[in-house]
Amino acid sequence: MSNGYAISNWQPAKPIYDKLKYLTSQPIYCVSDEELAKVLDHFETKCAKSKEITTEAKKYIPGGVQHNLAFNYPFPICVTKANGAYLTDLDGNEYIDFLQAGGPTILGSNYPAVRDKAIKLIKECGPVTGLFHEGELLLAKEINKHMPNVEMFRMLGSGTESVMAAIRVARNATKHKRIIKVGGAYHGWSDQMVYGLKIPGSRHFLESHGIPSGCYGTTDEVRPNDLGMLETMLKLNKMRGGTAAVLVEPVGPESGTRPVDFEYNKGVRELCDKYGALFIMDEVVTGFRVGLGGAQGYFGVVPDLTIFGKIVAGGYPSAGGVGGKKEFVSGMAAGVGTMMKRAYVGGTLAANPLSSYAGYCAIQEIAKTNACEKAGLAGDRLTNGLQALLDKYALPFVVYNQGSIVHLECSAAMSYDFSSMFLPASVIPMLKEKPEMLRRKVAMEQMGAAYMAHGLVTLAGSRLYTSLADTDEVIDEALNRFEAVFKNVTVCTRNLDK
Ligand SMILES: Cc1ncc(COP(=O)(O)O)c(C=O)c1O
Repeated sequence: MSNGYAISNWQPAKPIYDKLKYLTSQPIYCVSDEELAKVLDHFETKCAKSKEITTEAKKYIPGGVQHNLAFNYPFPICVTKANGAYLTDLDGNEYIDFLQAGGPTILGSNYPAVRDKAIKLIKECGPVTGLFHEGELLLAKEINKHMPNVEMFRMLGSGTESVMAAIRVARNATKHKRIIKVGGAYHGWSDQMVYGLKIPGSRHFLESHGIPSGCYGTTDEVRPNDLGMLETMLKLNKMRGGTAAVLVEPVGPESGTRPVDFEYNKGVRELCDKYGALFIMDEVVTGFRVGLGGAQGYFGVVPDLTIFGKIVAGGYPSAGGVGGKKEFVSGMAAGVGTMMKRAYVGGTLAANPLSSYAGYCAIQEIAKTNACEKAGLAGDRLTNGLQALLDKYALPFVVYNQGSIVHLECSAAMSYDFSSMFLPASVIPMLKEKPEMLRRKVAMEQMGAAYMAHGLVTLAGSRLYTSLADTDEVIDEALNRFEAVFKNVTVCTRNLDK
């Protein structure tokens, strides 16, 4: 029966971890040498204009492309048109788009009803004035209608800065210092959050170059889906400044790449109450994707603060915000005349008329079209179809979904977990295993390039977001294209060292 949520069936975490563990115990599978040669030839001959322009871009832009989620093996594709489920590149190739801009376009790309209203607004007042616009109120009320716990909403320019703001509010409210995040989770790229990225237990060893250790000196990391370890950390922190907040991605780190059990968020809520920490739920991905009530509505758990991003501006720029109980969010009051003792946050382009009004219109359209649920059904169809193909070709790959967030692990490059160690000595085994991780990452890139050459855009070759635009016909066509890739996959014997 329809419940408005995208997730038809929550899967327990352990069987998924077991399958991922089995996958990493296997040799690396990838497209055959012959197929890879065809893929690379496709890029050379059919994507020549993309190659030319992105080669030029490399002279002026680091890496030749500005977005971290853009695939750049063998080179980035230059997109010229986006429409519903499809993207078109500069050479005229058409792709089925499962990147969906990294999540914001749940209605499909360039959704006409939102676009038309955005154009009308720009014609009337331009994208920005720096003063109040009705769109701000409409958006805050619309969010509150679907997430009653979000009594107040402070709009900001990105998920990253909203996380920074929420942590500041939590420290201000609790007078505690420390923050706890879950290993592998992504909460944006602020200094204190580039910690434990991607690989649980990796703490500051992987990506925190250029960050003085003091910046993450009050950040702690716990193992995913492990409430026992969270409680131990909360207890420990009582003796070293107290915990201001626990931050979670509600479906698990990296948008559910490391899944959690259904009861996990409830357990986090209880522990936060027990130890006087605020519960910050990062709904940047799940907000208006899992359902209009967000993951908090789906799990029936009330966080103290909610982080928004992506869909909150309807796929238009400047998408971010912090919402929650009045007592906390009012501490971020804006405006020149504000005298209260506030947590200072803001941004020149934050909450501009375009992002607020586009967000409001998009959420209304999501409600009208039942987009979350339909995108979730598309995710189910894609997952079931992919599983049937993996069975047909006897591939050990792992596919599962949380509604419209579909995970397709071909090498499980990110499945390593060093969090059982959590000691300085943990660096040693981690480095020892790293070459295997890197080889698996190369295989993932080559699979991603093969998907691309067959007209499928994925997120890093391992995640697929579905949208309202993904009709049964689109999904079935995508499955045909996946089959064209899978039929050429074998145990990889070529050198995957970079
Ligand atoms: C869960 C989560 N939190 C925070 C962020 C950061 O948001 P932004 O890219 O808008 O800074 C992201 C971005 O992907 C995210 O997935």
